[in-house]
Amino acid sequence: MKTLSHPIRALAIAGLIATVGGHALAQDVVGNVDNARKKVAMCIGCHGIPGYQASFPEVHKVPMISGQNAKYIAAALTGYRQGDRRHPTMRGIAASLTDQDIADLAVYYEASGKGAPAPAAKPAPAASPEVQALLTKGACMSCHGEGLNKPIDGGYPKLAGQHADYLFVALKSYQVEHNASIGRGNAIMGTQARMFTHAELKQLANYIATLPGDLRTVPQSRFR
Ligand code: HEC
Ligand code: HEC
Repeated sequence: MKTLSHPIRALAIAGLIATVGGHALAQDVVGNVDNARKKVAMCIGCHGIPGYQASFPEVHKVPMISGQNAKYIAAALTGYRQGDRRHPTMRGIAASLTDQDIADLAVYYEASGKGAPAPAAKPAPAASPEVQALLTKGACMSCHGEGLNKPIDGGYPKLAGQHADYLFVALKSYQVEHNASIGRGNAIMGTQARMFTHAELKQLANYIATLPGDLRTVPQSRFR
């Protein structure tokens, strides 16, 4: 009994640390863009089609992931795989990915944003006084960076220019608890999102979507 209990306890403790640490991605896995080329086949049907819509938990465009930080993409995929992010479709997809797949896909999508045609350059619109007050209250720039496009850590997402309807769904999901198929466990954003009403989150989402940024939807044919 004694010999058996040790490895099991060690495993349980390792699991705990991984959970507390948030993202249990092995640090020594290095992504490879070329290896990802065959793996993206399972992603492009949604993330490679401009304007593609999902219908759960409400109709919204799937997020743009080309040009997003690799470290954040890997953290998000790991979150779906371990259930911190409860979205059923992405959980199903992430469940089949190894750490190496995640690392490959992450560097691939970060790189695929580079060189993708930028939308017509528009100056960043000024926030209305109401929206500015919400941004100040949440100190959003202190983590998501200048223009919400230069996060202070690669593990934090770029937000500028992301689809408004997706941002709204994502922000609301950080408020949800005790639901098997909706919600995200990230504690930082949980605290943030709970400071606002849905109407306020919608105002934030609508504004952030108008900001110029690096995020793109890149049809896969462009960089094969
Ligand atoms: C059936 C459509 C579909 C497919 C296929 C799909 N995704 Fe997704 N993906 C979504 C939707 C919808 C979301 C938003 C989920 C949520 O609300 O958390 C999402 C979210 C994500 C996110 C989080 C984005 C963010 O800004 O937080 C990443 C990263 C991602 N997907 C990567 C992938 C990769 C890599 C693949 C292929 C291995 C893939 N997805 C396949 C629909 C899809
Ligand atoms: C203390 C740092 C911090 C602050 C302040 C902060 N965020 Fe975040 N934000 C994060 C982190 C970390 C994540 C990734 C969470 C995860 O893994 O789900 C995130 C994720 C998000 C997402 C999900 C993006 C996606 O692609 O799915 C949105 C939207 C967002 N933040 C908006 C905001 C807004 C709006 C504010 C201000 C009201 C804000 N954040 C303030 C750290 C922060």
